[in-house]
Amino acid sequence: MNDLTPERLSWAMGDRRYEYHPTIGSTNDRAMALLREGAPSGMVVLADEQTAGRGRLGRSWHSPTGSALMLSVILRPAASAQSRIGMLGALMVCDAVEASGVEQTGIKWPNDVQIDGRKVCGILPEADWQGETLTGVVLGMGINVRVNFAGSPLEGAAISLSEVVSDIDRAALLRSLLERLDFWTPQLGSDALFAAWERRLNMIGKTVSIAAQGESLHGKAIGVDRDGALRIRGQDGAVRRAVAGDLALG
Ligand code: BTN
Repeated sequence: MNDLTPERLSWAMGDRRYEYHPTIGSTNDRAMALLREGAPSGMVVLADEQTAGRGRLGRSWHSPTGSALMLSVILRPAASAQSRIGMLGALMVCDAVEASGVEQTGIKWPNDVQIDGRKVCGILPEADWQGETLTGVVLGMGINVRVNFAGSPLEGAAISLSEVVSDIDRAALLRSLLERLDFWTPQLGSDALFAAWERRLNMIGKTVSIAAQGESLHGKAIGVDRDGALRIRGQDGAVRRAVAGDLALG
């Protein structure tokens, strides 16, 4: 289904600069190249298919052609707000997905967007530094719109919007996503953005395990710090911070 026609794309993108690629290696790689060439904050790179899509922690990310909304946004935040970019991504996706008719979304720390505990979107923020200076950030997002996970190893862990909403139109979803981007970006360092992200976290108070940087943390997730780090109280009573990693319940 071609719901990303030139007309619909231009309607969804409004005045912002964008590139659309029917096929590309990775939108994050292309956006990073544009960022380094001086592209403006808010520019979007969108693709219908990626041949070298990347996920967190060095994983690959693949969606069949035409089945996902895959995009990367170039942003130029203050260095102090860099840790908020992943939150921004998760939050704008939650807002847009809910506006499309899904009743409730959750965020699995750090920034997987879930519906009923199954992942509907992955977020990949990547920063570019010149020495001590942050030149910008690329915010990559991959939303499962109509990916068929039946019979795949991801069945049960992943979900597509088409399973919960009928007639999903990717251009409309994109437009709504970009509206939320424009709403939240000026509030990047704000209490409001942090609170909206924190409210959707769905593992606080639960027992979790986190594999991070070659070590494993286990204990009760008791809260998050304002930079997004997860606080975990272990059985010894000590509280440790996880800044990245793979979270599992139990
Ligand atoms: C994750 O592992 O959960 C993050 C997945 C991020 C995938 C998106 S798709 C668009 C953008 N380009 C990439 O290569 N990756 C991100």
